[in-house]
Amino acid sequence: MLMSNFLKNRKSIREYKDKAINEGVMNKLLDIFKELEEESNSKSFNFILFKDGEKVYKLLEGKAGYSGVMIKSPHYIGIRLKEVTKESIVEASYYTEKLMSKLSELNLGSCWINVKDVDKAIKAEALGEDNKNIGYLVAIGHPKAKNPFLEDPFSARFSIEEIVFKNEMGNSISLQELENRGLDDLFYYIRFAPSNFNKQPWRFILNENKITLLLEVDQGRTDLMDAGIIMYYFEEMAKTVGLSNKWKLIEEEPIEYDGKQYRPVGEYNI
Ligand SMILES: Cc1cc2nc3c(=O)[nH]c(=O)nc-3n(C[C@H](O)[C@H](O)[C@H](O)COP(=O)(O)O)c2cc1C
Repeated sequence: MLMSNFLKNRKSIREYKDKAINEGVMNKLLDIFKELEEESNSKSFNFILFKDGEKVYKLLEGKAGYSGVMIKSPHYIGIRLKEVTKESIVEASYYTEKLMSKLSELNLGSCWINVKDVDKAIKAEALGEDNKNIGYLVAIGHPKAKNPFLEDPFSARFSIEEIVFKNEMGNSISLQELENRGLDDLFYYIRFAPSNFNKQPWRFILNENKITLLLEVDQGRTDLMDAGIIMYYFEEMAKTVGLSNKWKLIEEEPIEYDGKQYRPVGEYNI
């Protein structure tokens, strides 16, 4: 499927059929784990499959997810970092999102679940002692059929004008200029990327030869998981307009704009 169509239609799936993924598909999934772990430069993470979703759900119910709302699915995937660094968080979230886009090719639904604040002893019981430091899980399974009489839940997105700027934060860029530079579709579609609490913290500053990615600082923090995810979709969409560069991480002081702080986290040469 075209990446643009995929992005427009992708949604977090929070309701699953009470049906295990069959062995054939499960084996394909394990092959994808291996392929993506090998593709990553740093080899700084592992995907772990939790087949017994019921056990994980029972132990994390009321504790994981937004306000303790754990998502019930037949299986879960854990993202285990070998070492917690800026690079490993970005790399792991980049490849997890790539994994999630491949899951949809297997007709499986998925949703990120934040388990960062769950007590480590509970995580050790639910996921195993070696996995007690895992910060994010992914729910996977066959999506429940949609009710044709109900509208699909829809998560709003910022407009391009709210997230893309020219030369400095707050300096708007015209759609005509984005179109002239072949970047209008790219920015239109990457807005559909998922983000923690749908905060869409990404901002982009376009210069002559590079694009800088910044993350909005929220209560003194930025979540680099959101950076890796948007970098993945950006690179995939960039390929469709003939750009094949990779994001490079940068370390710079936050920029103050409109009473908020934005931390530059990456650069992409164009
Ligand atoms: C890092 C990360 C963590 C997330 N954690 C949760 C979660 O704990 N519970 C949940 O229901 N959704 C979670 N989500 C899903 C987001 O809320 C969702 O992507 C966003 O609201 C946009 O909706 P959409 O994915 O359907 O387009 C998470 C997403 C990301 C990227």
